[in-house]
Amino acid sequence: MVAGKQGPQVFTLESAEHPYRALIECMNEGALILTADKMILYANQCFARMVKCPLEQVMGSSFRRFLSAEDRATLRPLMKRADKSGSKIQVLLNAGDGSQLPVHISIRPLAKSGFNRATIGMVVTDMAEARRTEELLRALTHRVVQVQEAERGRVALELHDNITQLLCAILVRSQALADKLSARDGPSKREAMKLREMLGQTAEEVERISRNLRPSVLDELGLVAVLRDTSTEFAERTGVSVKLACVQLTARLPANTELTLYRILQEALKNVEKHARARHVAVCLKQQGAFIQLAINDDGIGFDPDHQPARRNGKGGLGLLSMRERATYVGGALKVKSVRRAGTEIEVRVPLPPSVTAAH
Ligand SMILES: Nc1ncnc2c1ncn2[C@@H]1O[C@H](COP(=O)(O)OP(=O)(O)O)[C@@H](O)[C@H]1O
Ligand SMILES: [Mg+2]
Repeated sequence: MVAGKQGPQVFTLESAEHPYRALIECMNEGALILTADKMILYANQCFARMVKCPLEQVMGSSFRRFLSAEDRATLRPLMKRADKSGSKIQVLLNAGDGSQLPVHISIRPLAKSGFNRATIGMVVTDMAEARRTEELLRALTHRVVQVQEAERGRVALELHDNITQLLCAILVRSQALADKLSARDGPSKREAMKLREMLGQTAEEVERISRNLRPSVLDELGLVAVLRDTSTEFAERTGVSVKLACVQLTARLPANTELTLYRILQEALKNVEKHARARHVAVCLKQQGAFIQLAINDDGIGFDPDHQPARRNGKGGLGLLSMRERATYVGGALKVKSVRRAGTEIEVRVPLPPSVTAAH
């Protein structure tokens, strides 16, 4: 009995089932009902289109035939413990024509009715378009990082070659001026000395900015040298002690890998300075099989990496995200381990080219 505009109305169960069926048949997602051992009892037309198989061949067959061996193994425990809350998974469906389709599957056990055996409901969403957009976005951000790196390199070089050189020339002349003035010139001499001192500080500051934009030591001497310089500069500036342990590499790593590892250290130290309230930092570069691994540990306040509070203006921090993306661009992966009041570890692993091995 349903209350409507025309007063109470009676619907029979049979007529109530019709709109449900119509909805499932016309929806843009695949819908399936499986037995506990994954036989397809029911599939809608959309699912048949996804797997490019006639519907009559889909129904009655095993759902396993549309999955790779690897995805079958991933799905098995999920189906077993698909409790009331259900579970979700991303897999590749093998279609009838040999093509593959990335999909998102939502699995839910259906309530047992009468003497019927337990069944499982699945909603299958086509993720091909979302994947393409994701890949495009990733390629675009990668490009943005490359352009930003090139631009940083150019500005660093201009600062180093032009501004620092000019400042040094002015510094020498101001020193000469201060020397020419005798003690009798009193205030003028003091002013000239002050000028020389300020010019010295300015030159150092410009050099620091240029180094942060793109350290020439990275290009000239390589990764270990730049990790050492960065750690020393950080410890001297912030008072946080930094212990550095590095393997000796037999050859230079690919330029992209070196730059990535350096940028990750830079970003991680920025976070230590900004958030961690740490007293000690350990930086460790080592070889692990065919990988080079950089780990940055601090003994600061830690945080919960899985529950980052959203910023009020909607802009979350980009540091951890950009570290992760940079690691991915060079085929690597980044892990963040952090425990409140116990500190944080950032660990990045990048595959080594076969020509490089580490000597201890
Ligand atoms: N070493 C660290 N110690 C404590 N908290 C950290 C550390 N690194 C990151 N965080 C936490 O993670 C958040 C996100 O970091 P990040 O992505 O670099 O953004 P941002 O530094 O701009 O806030 C920080 O706001 C901070 O709460
Ligand atoms: Mg940050």
